[in-house]
Amino acid sequence: MICESIIMNIDLALEKNQTSKPKFSKKFKKFYIESYGCQMNFADSEVVASIVENEGYNSTSNANDADLILLNTCSIRDKAEQTVRKRLKSFNKLKKENKFLKVGVLGCMAERLKTKFLEEEKIVDLVVGPDAYKDLPNLIREVNDGKNAVNVILSRDETYGDINPVRLSSNGVSAFVSITRGCDNMCTFCVVPFTRGRERSRDPKSILNEIDDLVKKNYKEITLLGQNVDSYLWYGGGLKKDFKKISEFRKKTSVNFAKLLKVVAESFPKTRIRFSTSNPQDMSLEVIKTMSQYKNVCNHIHLPVQSGSDKVLKAMNRQHTRSEYLNLIKSIKKFLPNCSISQDIITGFPNESDEDHELTLDLMNKVKYDFGYMFKYSKRPGTLAFKKYDDNIPENIKQKRLQNIVELQQKHSFYRTNQYVGTIVEVLIEKESKKSSLQWSGRNEQNTVVVFDKGDYKVGEFVNVLITNCTSATLIGKAVNYSKN
Ligand code: SAH
Ligand code: F3S
Repeated sequence: MICESIIMNIDLALEKNQTSKPKFSKKFKKFYIESYGCQMNFADSEVVASIVENEGYNSTSNANDADLILLNTCSIRDKAEQTVRKRLKSFNKLKKENKFLKVGVLGCMAERLKTKFLEEEKIVDLVVGPDAYKDLPNLIREVNDGKNAVNVILSRDETYGDINPVRLSSNGVSAFVSITRGCDNMCTFCVVPFTRGRERSRDPKSILNEIDDLVKKNYKEITLLGQNVDSYLWYGGGLKKDFKKISEFRKKTSVNFAKLLKVVAESFPKTRIRFSTSNPQDMSLEVIKTMSQYKNVCNHIHLPVQSGSDKVLKAMNRQHTRSEYLNLIKSIKKFLPNCSISQDIITGFPNESDEDHELTLDLMNKVKYDFGYMFKYSKRPGTLAFKKYDDNIPENIKQKRLQNIVELQQKHSFYRTNQYVGTIVEVLIEKESKKSSLQWSGRNEQNTVVVFDKGDYKVGEFVNVLITNCTSATLIGKAVNYSKN
């Protein structure tokens, strides 16, 4: 799930990692970090913050105060990269004023551009790919010695399982926990397999330890994160693609996503469990059934479809057909009748015809997604689609098709939210509503935002809310009592 251009600032008052003490007794330098792109990047920034704090840096929410500015970047679409480049330019003045200021780029753009970044953006001192954050202490020392530093080596086993992330900009209620890194799916449009490397899973013990720590700190909701969570597979470490080569015994004792979900749900029965993202080809019936067995596993599945046309799905190397996808939706609705489903869709993929576009609208009409994230195709250097196909859909047609699907999604979202009116939903309170300081904002288990008058309730509490009204994106209601949780 992508939320481009959202900037995450570190709040100084945030909870710090309690267990890892800095090596330096005197903290005197400050770092500032901003994250762009997917939830994985936001989670990675929390790992980075932990590593940088251990090097004697304090976090600051003000870039003007920083000795080290880090941008955790996204390459998924050209627009995401342009946003980062613009942001880098905005630091030129600061760099002129403070010759000791160092600027680093992390994440997918760092991996994609490597040393080219140093040539293209003179302000950059430090380039670090998503698997090289543990090398930050050395790299920071190098840049502080006046050199440029680059590490973009992708790893076969790095999962950062042994690092206790510093929770940045946290509401103290919900947190992300990464369970896999990388992706092996090679969708032809997608840069992720190139920037984040091959798929590997994290040791379930370290996942459980991280959740345990969060639960002890009073977190109420955990989202298990990965580019493709359903293909989680722990067999003692190593790449997913090497699983075939291991012994039958190790295969038998391996842990797949359904098993992980079961263990997490049973170990933390009072904690809401979410996960993202599910790839249709990897989502098994076992996962759906596991979801149905545990009340604390939230009834929401983010199930990107990208297109409703078999021709386009094939060209995208999505390894399922339209009818397989619709069958999966049927199974979800059979075992989880109250499950919400959200989508990612791309418009204007090379050679997408009006007919293909109509098939996408038709599929949307069949599924009636609760919400979704919709994008115009953006060609990404290095991907198969970039090499093989002409980006031949004119911009105005891409835009028009995007508008079509966004409008249809809004209609479906409203259809879905409207069905909650008159019902009681359980809400986990997360924060004050943006629109009114007298109201709380939280989500129901289907991931729909709910706002209601504050009363005596507090952030982090589970409350039953009677829904009295709605927009296409928000449920409006009144609290009726605490929920059993
Ligand atoms: N499995 C990942 C997908 C990451 S990319 C996850 O965790 O969600 C998120 C979405 O961005 C994709 O589902 C796709 O809809 C969109 N996307 C990826 N590459 C794109 C491209 N080249 N142009 C437009 N949209 C793209
Ligand atoms: Fe990208 Fe497809 Fe993986 S969208 S992250 S290659 S599942």
